[in-house]
Amino acid sequence: DKGEFRHYMMKEIYEQPNVISACLEGRISDSKVLTSCFGAESDFLKKVENIHIVACGTSYHAGMVAKYWIEELAGLPCSVEVASEYRYRKVAVPKNTLFLTLSQSGETADTLAALRMAKELNYLTTLAICNVPSSTLVRESALTLLTNAGAEIGVASTKAFTTQLTALLITSVAIAVENGLSAEKEKTLVQAMRSLPACVNEALQQDGHIKQIADKFANKHNALFLGRGAMFPIALEGSLKLKEISYIHAEAYPAGELKHGPLALVDEDMPIITLVPHNGMLDKIKSNLQEVAARGGELYVFADRETDLHNEENITFSEVPKVEAILEPIVHTIPLQLLSYHVAVVKGTDVDQPRNLAKSVTVE
Ligand code: F6R
Repeated sequence: DKGEFRHYMMKEIYEQPNVISACLEGRISDSKVLTSCFGAESDFLKKVENIHIVACGTSYHAGMVAKYWIEELAGLPCSVEVASEYRYRKVAVPKNTLFLTLSQSGETADTLAALRMAKELNYLTTLAICNVPSSTLVRESALTLLTNAGAEIGVASTKAFTTQLTALLITSVAIAVENGLSAEKEKTLVQAMRSLPACVNEALQQDGHIKQIADKFANKHNALFLGRGAMFPIALEGSLKLKEISYIHAEAYPAGELKHGPLALVDEDMPIITLVPHNGMLDKIKSNLQEVAARGGELYVFADRETDLHNEENITFSEVPKVEAILEPIVHTIPLQLLSYHVAVVKGTDVDQPRNLAKSVTVE
């Protein structure tokens, strides 16, 4: 039932504050991550020295964000790979490596094949972050952390993605606590997590504004998404969403790669969507924006107001709430979901059932 919404995708976008709460429920106290959420075998948190994350599509993008979190908070090496590549190569597994899969459905053929291969290798254990309790992935993994997003009907993943990120944040902090994260820092992070549903709700308030911007995209054939750090995977996710449901060709680059090739594409017909985090990268990204502006590119910026980008000429500014740095990738996802949704609606595509795509990719 779509309720008051025209499409399941929009209903699911608006469910995010609630399902993120459901994902956090019982997994954090006021100041701590509750390791009991990993079940009786939560001992792996003490032993893990490396993390291999394997997934496909949107779930892979969630894994890419987690790499930034895990290496920053826990100081442990983390690699992320698409399952279709992982399963067909010889993988070197350092001692005490956690094998972590991400899947909305838990039935993705490549991810399952990767898990089966990993079980033959010398991993510490296997953990699945998944939305479907009865899925094959959950059944075949040693450990599970459910995302609790409820059924997702829209083919383009939205709430499944942001709850994967939430579950990954819980996991990253739990691993970090065993690797020197102070109790004080843990408390700050947990309190940030507690504020997440409200932050996402605030990000949703921009819907009307983003709908207006969407009109300008409908006649475009290409779009370029830029981000740095943990915002780069969010740029990838934004470009995937736009491709999937509006059929506009979109690419994402780490903003620092602009000069190494993609700048050649920039002209008056190329919208550039830039995700601006509020951190040490702010000045760097501002200089990337100037490079684009100098070539006549059409600039769309998603940032909080304190970045002082809302008064810049030649920039279409969209406000994202100012949040703790750790939450920025999750909160910045929301306007990109809304943008792709509204562009698709303007173009009249089948939002919930995009051409050529299936919700669950159970064949290779
Ligand atoms: C895109 C999307 C896909 C899936 C991918 C993996 O919106 O939903 O890219 O993320 O097919 O599916 P799961 O997460 O079920 O393994």
